[in-house]
Amino acid sequence: MKNSPQTIQLLWKGQCFDFPLVQGSEGETAIDIKTLRQRTGLITLDQGYANTGSCTSSITFMDGERGILRYRGIPIQELARGASFKETAFLLIYGTLPTPGELVRFSEQLTDYSPVHENMRLFFQNFPPNAHPMGILSSMVNSLRSFYPELANADEEIQVTVPRLLSKIRTLAAMSYRISMGYQVVYPRPDLSYCANFLHMMFDSTVKPYELKEEVVQALRTIWILHADHEQNCSTSAVRLVGSARVNLYAAISSGITALWGPLHGGANQAVIDMLEGIRNNGGNVDTFVKRAKDRTDPFRLMGFGHRVYKTYDPRARIMKGVCHRLLQALDREDPLLDIAQELEKTALSDDYFISRNLYPNIDFYTGIAFRAMGIPTNMFPVMFAIGRLPGWIAQWLESIKDPHWKLNRPRQIYVGPGKTMYRPPTKGLDMEQYS
Ligand code: SDX
Repeated sequence: MKNSPQTIQLLWKGQCFDFPLVQGSEGETAIDIKTLRQRTGLITLDQGYANTGSCTSSITFMDGERGILRYRGIPIQELARGASFKETAFLLIYGTLPTPGELVRFSEQLTDYSPVHENMRLFFQNFPPNAHPMGILSSMVNSLRSFYPELANADEEIQVTVPRLLSKIRTLAAMSYRISMGYQVVYPRPDLSYCANFLHMMFDSTVKPYELKEEVVQALRTIWILHADHEQNCSTSAVRLVGSARVNLYAAISSGITALWGPLHGGANQAVIDMLEGIRNNGGNVDTFVKRAKDRTDPFRLMGFGHRVYKTYDPRARIMKGVCHRLLQALDREDPLLDIAQELEKTALSDDYFISRNLYPNIDFYTGIAFRAMGIPTNMFPVMFAIGRLPGWIAQWLESIKDPHWKLNRPRQIYVGPGKTMYRPPTKGLDMEQYS
């Protein structure tokens, strides 16, 4: 980031205040208002932070108008085509693609850390049977600190905790599914890749061994790469904000999982399938749902459509569409929901309501179809998103705690409540002892 020679002037109460402009490496420009309140008494108000930068970052670049997404400068299309998820995670977290030696070491760490403490099984068994996997995952990740206490040396703490969490999140996710189904827990295998090991832990069984199909492993690799980071989205902002209080990594990530659970965010992939099934159960007529989505009096939204940043097709959704077709072909399967999704997309993208608002399919529109083809249960879809996003959350958390300018996040507000009011005890005659 460089300070731009220009400044911007604010005229307030007859005075002119100059504020510096800062420019990012891709030309994005912002007003640096860190001295605004101290010099003018003013604050800014930007509900939803649509116009507010919370930090500078070197991790991910997005251009919403041009549909560009790059991790550490590398276009998402190139990583999805040729990188492994492990390499992509290393790139995001440590800033460069791993050397062969680094990749071997990183793989060894992920293998060594893949089992979880046996006593964690007792936690799983005490969740109610219909507990949502995202609530379980958020709790279990937070509980990791209890099982793996902080190391005295701060650098070593990070060197161990990062690969440990990256590895264990798969095991925890698969365990929550197996135990909720009353199945035996399947342990990770040291000989399998990151993605293949997850599928093994989810679906293997002594009765009917799970056949690891290369097409399914490759589809999962691509999907997790596409989800790995997305600059300052809602859940990443939660990780940074909670992390700014200097909590441990597990607690900060647990807050990210909780934020991602929301249907407007990572929970949308589950909501998309619910919507597509609703359309199918209503005879497959997409028009009714499109009409509802356009009706401002109806809270229904076209799930998987629209985005705060992308005002064109989400580049990840474009890749996801191809993943769905290849996966269904490889598995020799048809999914009526894919046909409905494509019909819905075609109808919406020819409708002025969506065109005029730049509403296009986002990453969540197609991922559910791919997860269904893999046999992942619908309520696990947001968990799949969380596993994919974990490298990004970790990278953003690391960047924030190492930023010399980073401090406790504490936004201001504009108060609109009642003026000063005197306290009046409740009407006399009440026996206050009884009601205090
Ligand atoms: C993710 O931030 C990220 O990077 C997130 C993410 C990531 O990788 O981390 O990309 C992952 O969360 C993707 C988004 C998943 N959510 C959904 O698919 C839920 C459906 N989408 C909408 O809820 C909505 O599009 C949001 C929440 C995603 C974005 O909403 P904004 O930016 O707050 O936009 P808005 O609500 O101000 O909408 C502007 C207009 C409004 O209409 P008008 O007031 O102009 O009449 O567009 C309409 C909205 O009603 N609109 C929609 C719509 N999305 C916006 N109308 C119908 N269906 C929709 N999906």
